[in-house]
Amino acid sequence: MSGGWLEGYAALITGGGSGIGRAVAERFLAEGAAVTVLGRDADQLDDVVRSAADPSRVHTVTADVRDSDRLHAAVAETVERFGKLDTLVTNAGVWDYQRQLTRLGAEELDTAFDEIFSINVKGYLLAAQAAWPDLVKSRGSIVMTLSNASFYVNGGGPLYTASKHACLGLMRELAYELAPKVRVNGVACGGMNTDLRGPETLALGGRSIGASFAKRTADTPPPPIPLHDSSTDPRDFTGPYVLLAAREQSGPITGHAISVDGGIGVRGFARAAGGDEL
Ligand SMILES: NC(=O)c1ccc[n+]([C@@H]2O[C@H](COP(=O)([O-])OP(=O)(O)OC[C@H]3O[C@@H](n4cnc5c(N)ncnc54)[C@H](O)[C@@H]3O)[C@@H](O)[C@H]2O)c1
Repeated sequence: MSGGWLEGYAALITGGGSGIGRAVAERFLAEGAAVTVLGRDADQLDDVVRSAADPSRVHTVTADVRDSDRLHAAVAETVERFGKLDTLVTNAGVWDYQRQLTRLGAEELDTAFDEIFSINVKGYLLAAQAAWPDLVKSRGSIVMTLSNASFYVNGGGPLYTASKHACLGLMRELAYELAPKVRVNGVACGGMNTDLRGPETLALGGRSIGASFAKRTADTPPPPIPLHDSSTDPRDFTGPYVLLAAREQSGPITGHAISVDGGIGVRGFARAAGGDEL
């Protein structure tokens, strides 16, 4: 394709084999970029290559985001294959299935904290540490997948909410530390129908958020968000990633999170949306 917003860009996306990471990878490809997709599941990653219109613009790295050496290798392979790195999308994460503090035993809390924070927070930080020198060279940027749980309660339990608030702080701190050469922004996604898993330490590694979406019926009341029927298809969340990655479109933006959550921030006290009768 020619004329895309990311023509000639090279991106590295963690957790790029499924969900929003894969949707961002496919959107970046459609916008003209080359992408390295990194994830734990080699089959998922192979499928991204298989389904690409131009597989020569896709590189895969099987790795765990808690492994700093593999993240450094992923950056090096991206530069070797595509000549540079313009955009790091930190995205791989797990959810806590809204397990509240009162439903966590002491040992569960201890081990699940370590697992969730090491993937959701340390995984972002290690990726940024591996990528920043090449992002300085390209005057590139980092786009972090954040969450409604980066701002509001009850989008997770205390572990997930704290981890996503931590990512917001990380985004802001790195925006300060890496300016003026590297921009750092976030996309705070609302509920999406993906394969989002829970922590192994809570025996929730096999559960997928997609199953929860599948249980929704016509009788289920809409979630209490102003845009009741806003999409849960991850492809509909990818536009802000393109905008924030494209220096020609968002050059003066850093340290900012775009919320893509159906308007949770303008939810009223009595009713979610004030304009239902319009
Ligand atoms: N689905 C939602 O409702 C929702 C809402 C807001 C934010 N998010 C965030 O979106 C991001 C992506 O999640 P998703 O919903 O697309 O789920 P997903 O499970 O489809 O995608 C996450 C990807 O990360 C990979 N991954 C998980 N742990 C990893 C690790 N340790 N090392 C390497 N790869 C690992 C998974 O294999 C998967 O491919 C997460 O950060 C999540 O917190 C999701």
